[in-house]
Amino acid sequence: MKGLFLTGTDTDCGKTRVAVALAHALRAAGYQVAPFKPVAAGAERTPAGLRNADAEALIAACGGGWDYGLVNPYCFVPPVSPHLAAAEAGQIVDASVLRGAAEQLAAQADLLLVEGAGGWLVPLGPGINIEDLALALGLPVVLVVGLRLGCLNHAQLSADRIRRSGVGLAGWIGSMVDPAMQRREDNIASLRDLLPAPCLGLLPPLAPDETGAQHIAIETLEAAL
Ligand SMILES: Nc1ncnc2c1ncn2[C@@H]1O[C@H](COP(=O)(O)OP(=O)(O)O)[C@@H](O)[C@H]1O
Ligand SMILES: [Mg+2]
Repeated sequence: MKGLFLTGTDTDCGKTRVAVALAHALRAAGYQVAPFKPVAAGAERTPAGLRNADAEALIAACGGGWDYGLVNPYCFVPPVSPHLAAAEAGQIVDASVLRGAAEQLAAQADLLLVEGAGGWLVPLGPGINIEDLALALGLPVVLVVGLRLGCLNHAQLSADRIRRSGVGLAGWIGSMVDPAMQRREDNIASLRDLLPAPCLGLLPPLAPDETGAQHIAIETLEAAL
């Protein structure tokens, strides 16, 4: 299975925006990309069933037509930590179920693009968190850094733990979640110095209809695949 596992410094750090940018950039470079949002908390009830906005954004960015239930096997209504939402729904997040879905999706594309939930140590249930899921999938990790005050600390802690887990840290991508961030360029320079993996892109403040694909360093990314 080839692909990338996106995690982030926090919830709301730009993972979905980066996933959409990556999907468009990789597809423009000729790859078929399959979307995977294994666990989502925060969903709408629709006639077709529960739908999470991240999973739908990933499906659209990957060209549409993907089987929702395969792309997002665990989908919960309340926007709370997944382990709480799963317990309330009476479900247990099972890494082998997710590995099976990932393999089915990966068989339909060149690359599987996975968006985690929250950050690296978010619990998914008893004895399983995002790190365990990433290990079960075995894909290189991309750390999304939400560019805001505090990101230098969050990014280093996350990168350090990701590397200790034994999965490969392919690189990091910054997303400008705070248009008013002070000393942004200095912070980006510090991230380049402090993080032990290459920068694979920097998303500027984007309009809702912009993908940001042109801000992905596709050649550096391809070298990490
Ligand atoms: N580069 C960016 N430009 C504009 N808005 C952004 C950018 N990155 C993130 N956002 C906004 O910040 C919020 C959180 O981003 P999102 O990608 O959903 O984060 P996550 O998936 O990590 O929870 C969303 O409203 C999103 O549109
Ligand atoms: Mg998201």
